Amino acid sequence: MAAMFFTLLLFLSFPPSLPSRPFAEAPVTLDMDGNVGSSVAVDQSRGDEVRSSNSVRPKELNPNEPEADRSSTAQNNHRVKQNSSKSNQSDGTLTRHLPDIIIIGVRKGGTRALLEMLSLHSAVAAAQSEVHFFDSDAHYQNGLKWYVSQMPLSRTDQLTVEKTPAYFTCLDAPARILRMNPSVRLLLIVRDPVDRVLSDYTQVFHNQLQKHKTPQPIEDLLIRDGDLNLNYKAVNRSMYHPHMERWLQVFPRDRFHIVDGDALIRDPFSEMKKVERFLRLEPQITEENFYFNQTKGFYCLKEKGHEHCLHESKGRTHPNVAPEVLQKLCKYFQEPNRKFFELVGRTFDWK
Ligand SMILES: *[C@@H]1O[C@H](CO)[C@@H](O)[C@H](O)[C@H]1NC(C)=O
Ligand SMILES: *[C@@H]1O[C@H](CO)[C@@H](O)[C@H](O)[C@H]1NC(C)=O
Ligand SMILES: *[C@@H]1O[C@H](CO)[C@@H](O)[C@H](O)[C@H]1NC(C)=O
Ligand SMILES: *[C@@H]1O[C@H](CO)[C@@H](O)[C@H](O)[C@H]1NC(C)=O
Repeated sequence: MAAMFFTLLLFLSFPPSLPSRPFAEAPVTLDMDGNVGSSVAVDQSRGDEVRSSNSVRPKELNPNEPEADRSSTAQNNHRVKQNSSKSNQSDGTLTRHLPDIIIIGVRKGGTRALLEMLSLHSAVAAAQSEVHFFDSDAHYQNGLKWYVSQMPLSRTDQLTVEKTPAYFTCLDAPARILRMNPSVRLLLIVRDPVDRVLSDYTQVFHNQLQKHKTPQPIEDLLIRDGDLNLNYKAVNRSMYHPHMERWLQVFPRDRFHIVDGDALIRDPFSEMKKVERFLRLEPQITEENFYFNQTKGFYCLKEKGHEHCLHESKGRTHPNVAPEVLQKLCKYFQEPNRKFFELVGRTFDWK
């Protein structure tokens, strides 16, 4: 009986929810880095604060030690004390800690836009580059200590977020993330899978041009022997349901919030309100944070008088695809899409 009571007390003391922290003004860094997926980030800088850190290394940060950080209090142990003379916070202490929130994908879904829009909130501290911790064995071997070192400095009242779209399709990522922080909140941004394929192709196309290579025409990649080429990675990555199924075997559905990437482009404010609600953040993002840039054809961000648009590489024009190929794509995705809707209990307005 006493043991039961104690267990209950323990549970009540550490509810598996986001810590509610007070809110305050925060500097928001709007990094223009547009290198999605291709390069692995080393410099997560919030500027030179990173280098001036005299960090006290946290203990028990090795993911190879299984039970090291399963406890809900692990978060606090991971805080790395910093003394930044630049900080102007109430207690003057900035720390790095493991993410409370991870944007897990999808590649070319609008993860950068989501991260930057989330950064408008003063209670959010975002790692500006993709960390690739859970999908890269080499990085994962470095342990959680390394992972924490990649996180931005933040105040105790801020939530830390990182985004690495490659997590969504990585087989090891869900279990590894669970072990890091069992109460982490996961954001998944999806868009019409056909548009995502084209966008995926477009990115690779531009990367190859940059490397002075000749990109293959999209039809050659999409079609093999008259049929849709399912081995083409871009097609695989647009089949959201098998990947989502794996994630749901590890995390309960209510741990995910799915952002409609197409809606985020059309009406970023409404979509961000839903994100704020899911993360239980004080409503702070307003319609005034967004303005439509006619030249670009999409919304840019406005924050404390500063205007800021996404990197050039975002919102590129897609290739013209033969209509019959496009039709094949649309037709093919009907079934995977239906399965995905069923899985997440929600439908999306896809072709
Ligand atoms: C932080 O460092 C500065 C300069 O090195 C020093 O003046 C200040 O007292 C330190 N603050 C704390 C909280 O340690
Ligand atoms: C620190 O914050 C106070 C009040 O918020 C402000 O008046 C002051 O200018 C700030 N100092 C620096 C160095 O930013
Ligand atoms: C898609 O990729 C996953 C791994 O990322 C793999 O397990 C699966 O078999 C692939 N599906 C197809 C249809 O190729
Ligand atoms: C709108 O986009 C164009 C083209 O990228 C850019 O040159 C211009 O500075 C932007 N204007 C504003 C107000 O953001």
